[in-house]
Amino acid sequence: MTCRVVKIPFTFFFLLVTLVPLVHMFPFGTNQLDINFYDRSCPNLAMIVRYGVWSAVRDDKRMAASLLRLHFHDCIVNGCDASVLLDDTPYFTGEKNALPNHNSLRGFEVIDDIKEHVERMCPATVSCADILALAAREAIRMVGGPSWDVALGRRDAITTSKEAAEQQLPSPIEPLQNITAKFYSKGLELRDVVALSGGHTIGFAQCFTFKGRLFDFQGSGRPDPVLDSSLLTTLQSMCPNEDTSNTNLAPLDASSTFMFDNEYYRNLIYNTGLLQSDQVLARDRRTAAMVYYYSNNRFAFYDDFSQSMERLSNVGVLTGMEGEIRGKCGYVN
Ligand code: HEM
Ligand SMILES: *[C@@H]1O[C@H](CO)[C@@H](O)[C@H](O)[C@H]1NC(C)=O
Repeated sequence: MTCRVVKIPFTFFFLLVTLVPLVHMFPFGTNQLDINFYDRSCPNLAMIVRYGVWSAVRDDKRMAASLLRLHFHDCIVNGCDASVLLDDTPYFTGEKNALPNHNSLRGFEVIDDIKEHVERMCPATVSCADILALAAREAIRMVGGPSWDVALGRRDAITTSKEAAEQQLPSPIEPLQNITAKFYSKGLELRDVVALSGGHTIGFAQCFTFKGRLFDFQGSGRPDPVLDSSLLTTLQSMCPNEDTSNTNLAPLDASSTFMFDNEYYRNLIYNTGLLQSDQVLARDRRTAAMVYYYSNNRFAFYDDFSQSMERLSNVGVLTGMEGEIRGKCGYVN
């Protein structure tokens, strides 16, 4: 009898001191992301990322757009695992140099700087994939957009592939059907395609990504008949029909280039969308109603964009003991 009285509290105490820290270190079974994941191990993480993004966007307003796109391109190719950040090595050619990314993706040094700061405060704890997901959210908040919860605990990939990026990234000149197929294969839906395309309310595109619309639309020898004629004239002078203009930049949303608002959808209604893949959303019967709705309702767009970002940033994540926590975002350990 006396023996039992002593034994129960002891067993309980034993379980408490051994299992609680173990479960905390290895979240076995629960391979799920958690917004409180770094609460104890890196309590200042959100502030460090916020500061890093804030100072980068202060110096270069376009950086908000570039960070959002970096996170999208990470997630849509083999999941949100920071594979997009890996530099090429003698053993593999990475996503960075895949056609849609090369000389196009920006913001790598912003993520590297934040990672360095995070490593000083919480060494070997926070993944580059989580930093990227947080940075995208901070960037959008900073340019007037909505906020959303970023669940954490992603792990970093130890490999990457240029071919995967070239197959999986959407192209601005492929049909909507093909673009939606790419989103579906990641567990995303048509409404995600429409809401996330609203990311093009900020940032820039190089002339070669839409030049076909200006001079020779789908082999017709003429401009895209849908494109608003005054925007056509403007774009033809920004992007003359010669290769030297290929890398000139045009704003994706000419009416409020640095503001995260719903102007993107209003542009589509007025046939002033920049990319062919943008403009088609207002004309396809499957998506036109959503475009119209967002064009009239900024807050509905904000709500849906936030929800779609939460879904996007959960695509194909590595958790638990998968992958690693990289020391530097550009290299596997
Ligand atoms: C739906 C299929 C999509 C296609 C075909 C597409 C295509 C493109 C292209 C061609 C550019 C210009 C790149 C360059 O000229 O260097 C661009 C820029 C951009 N994209 Fe997309 N995109 C898509 C979806 C998305 C999504 C889902 C997001 C984010 C939620 C996004 C965010 C951005 C941003 C912010 C920029 C500007 C980047 C900067 O200025 O640095 N895009 N996109
Ligand atoms: C669209 O997808 C189909 C089927 O996968 C493919 O045959 C076609 O080449 C794609 N079109 C473009 C322009 O990429």
